Amino acid sequence: MSLRIGIVGTGRTIGVASDHLHGIQANPGWILSAVYDIVPDNAKQWIQQHNLASALICSSLEELLDKVDAVVICTDNLSHGTIAREAFKRKLPVLCEKPLSVDYHESKKLAEEAAAVGVVNYMGMQYRYHPYAQLIKEIISSGELGDIFSYRHKLGGGRIGNPNVGMEWRMKKETSGAGAVADFGIHQVDLIHFFLHETCGEITSVQAELATFIQARQSEGASAAPVTNDDIAVVIARLENGAMITLNNSRLLPQDGDGIEIVGTKAAISMDQHGRLFLRKKNADGSWSGEREELEIEERHKFLGLARGKQYKEFYEAVKNNQPHELSFAYAAQAARVIDAAVLSSQEGRRVSISEIE
Ligand SMILES: NC(=O)c1ccc[n+]([C@@H]2O[C@H](COP(=O)([O-])OP(=O)(O)OC[C@H]3O[C@@H](n4cnc5c(N)ncnc54)[C@H](O)[C@@H]3O)[C@@H](O)[C@H]2O)c1
Repeated sequence: MSLRIGIVGTGRTIGVASDHLHGIQANPGWILSAVYDIVPDNAKQWIQQHNLASALICSSLEELLDKVDAVVICTDNLSHGTIAREAFKRKLPVLCEKPLSVDYHESKKLAEEAAAVGVVNYMGMQYRYHPYAQLIKEIISSGELGDIFSYRHKLGGGRIGNPNVGMEWRMKKETSGAGAVADFGIHQVDLIHFFLHETCGEITSVQAELATFIQARQSEGASAAPVTNDDIAVVIARLENGAMITLNNSRLLPQDGDGIEIVGTKAAISMDQHGRLFLRKKNADGSWSGEREELEIEERHKFLGLARGKQYKEFYEAVKNNQPHELSFAYAAQAARVIDAAVLSSQEGRRVSISEIE
């Protein structure tokens, strides 16, 4: 059964909608039937860039909603809620980009509304479908690492590390919510849950420092305007079993140092900036082995159309069977709760329990 899907927000800065197109095209069950962007030129350019028919372009959100069986939201974080609510009025399933909204409060409200309407709501948190994440999950589930006590993840991008990149919606608290800590942190919190919740439990508390190093950006046709959210964040978190987490998020650094390290009582797995994975085991006497083994990504770790392809396969199955998916708005709201705890921790200079965030 083919289902019609429409994309709202074709893109201007990163243009994540293009990734979604690849995911849709990897799944014959979906047919891209409509696109809408509040800036008509963005939609026109996007259609040309991807050699698609200009007839797909709608001149309003309502027109798009009339033409589809499901909606994808790829706009700035603030507008996710308004668009999702319009879709819910028509009982249309929604795939929304992360973060769900600008903070936990708004995300929770949206999650509750989605649950009340009873349509499939699904989040664009695709990192767990990357081959490296599948391999790491497999190693952790096999018990090869032993009891995990340390987890470190640095994630970021360098595009806006150039201070000459002008003001974007993501640099303003009102349209983005928190900055780097949410942008990358939502993915990190999702991966921590995916990898560790069965063995180590959930995140119980956080301690964070957020900072803004590029404090003003040029606005179109205006003088420089202030950046009102963080561009670098460091978060320390604890899991239920006491495991120590350190997260580093940045919009400014080169990606050379990106990577993950997960350490247990028997072995450690790490991923370097090139995406190469290594396993280092402990010797019988408890010391670390001098050798590390490079792990191979196998076919079983790869999905058709890679992470976005798998995302659209999961979304299709959920919609076709009208069944909720784990990557729901409610799940995203819980991730937003951890991010809000990090923001509060940085503001108040203290450790914050996740249960404090209501
Ligand atoms: N999952 C990921 O890895 C990932 C990566 C990048 C961005 N994102 C998320 O995707 C979303 C979009 O980010 P982006 O960088 O692609 O943004 P972008 O700036 O490239 O594009 C946003 C587009 O939305 C349009 N738009 C804004 N409000 C609208 C409205 N009310 N109706 C219709 N169109 C509207 C804009 O004109 C623009 O073309 C954000 O929520 C962001 O956090 C996720």
